Amino acid sequence: MARKARSVYRCSECGAEHPKWAGRCDACSAWNTLVEEPIGRTRGGAERRAALASGPAPVRLSEVVAGGPRRWTTALDEFDFVLGGGIVPGSVLLVGGEPGIGKSTLLLQCASRLEGRGITTLYVSGEESIEQVRLRADRLPEDTGPVHVLPEVRLDAIQAHAEVVGAQVVIVDSIQTTYSDELEGAPGNVGQVRECAARLMRFAKETGAAVVLVGHVTRGGIIAGPKTLEHAVDTVLYFEGESSGDFRVLRAVKNRFGSVDEVGIFEMTERGLRPVANPSAAFLAGRAADTAGSAVTALMEGTRPVLIEIQALAAKSGYGTPQRVATGLDGRRLAVLLAVLERRAGLSFHDLDVFVNVTGGVRVMEPASDLAVAAALCSSVRDQPAPPDALFLGEIGLGGEVRPIGGIERRLAEAERLGFRTAFVSGRAGATTPLTTVPIDHVSQLAGRLAA
Ligand code: TYD
Ligand code: MG
Repeated sequence: MARKARSVYRCSECGAEHPKWAGRCDACSAWNTLVEEPIGRTRGGAERRAALASGPAPVRLSEVVAGGPRRWTTALDEFDFVLGGGIVPGSVLLVGGEPGIGKSTLLLQCASRLEGRGITTLYVSGEESIEQVRLRADRLPEDTGPVHVLPEVRLDAIQAHAEVVGAQVVIVDSIQTTYSDELEGAPGNVGQVRECAARLMRFAKETGAAVVLVGHVTRGGIIAGPKTLEHAVDTVLYFEGESSGDFRVLRAVKNRFGSVDEVGIFEMTERGLRPVANPSAAFLAGRAADTAGSAVTALMEGTRPVLIEIQALAAKSGYGTPQRVATGLDGRRLAVLLAVLERRAGLSFHDLDVFVNVTGGVRVMEPASDLAVAAALCSSVRDQPAPPDALFLGEIGLGGEVRPIGGIERRLAEAERLGFRTAFVSGRAGATTPLTTVPIDHVSQLAGRLAA
């Protein structure tokens, strides 16, 4: 085992150095800001000159010929798509997500498919025993590549084994369980996470292997792990979805080798994750179109339009403050829309519990879905179904005005492809489409036009 190097503790607020860890920085009085750092020896001129012999020499930029990066494809279509075509050798990829969302499953599938294509992979599990990894693999009959599995948390051992097996892709599941004995802190603390990631990045650059780091993100938003690494790694993907639902969205939030606009959509099945080739049809499957409180809208997931259903239920409230529950939608956005409908469209919700749900476990972030949420709410209070073949697209302002949104033609084209015939859009949208458009300029017109 390596000699224990001495550490210092640096305040992440003011940069002051402390010989010992403390809850509070002496210099700036901030709490919980001290992060452990290893102390490097100061190196002399001889060592610097020795470094010249290894490593590359400077070249003129004009003499560098650049092709696109080489990539290893996993044949897990949506995964390759989000990356911009596959894993780039020598790069470091961070896959973040809540516990239980399917990160280990996704990466075990990737590893096995890469292995099946002749790319040596090492799947390091710091959280589960090999037997547990084996049990998961047994559930994945389509992903049977002979992956190397290593139950290990010590960083030195991980790197050494990766070199011995000649791994071209090293998956570290997870960065929070990985431990460098150069630091005294426990695995998972910010100092350890940063140090381990930094050393694995050096490993990737030096050996040309790609390193995939798994990072847990907790629902409470305490993301000490992944967030502190985002700036350092090449690519950051987040794996999201309601773990109760079957759909998962893989989103690129940073990508040095591709676009950050793209998302991949998967379905968690009995046999692992399956890429969803036609997400709109999948999200709308099982929809009860003739029920009050249902409205369909089109989101842009990256550059692809995806249709989703929004369901609302307004029911007489028992007693006390009525409930507002939003699933897959921001609760504050729901509160704003309810207030706008009350004040500008004369609908009353004050004695009603209101539940709004986005089906399929998708999270809606775009204001373009406002009109669909309003339509679902309006349809539920009036107990009157919206036309089953109608799509709703528009952002709602505080004055109750309905505004046009971006990418409307692509969204309408996707709706047409799935058999929709009517589009409720802002009167100012000005889109050319074969769908019959119902112009809505203000939320007060919604109830009347839904009934027609
Ligand atoms: P897992 O990959 O362990 O999540 P994470 O690594 O992000 O914590 O996946 C956990 C869930 O996925 C677990 O609830 C079981 C489910 N699952 C399936 O539904 N089908 C499968 O084929 C597999 C392997 C897992
Ligand atoms: Mg896991």
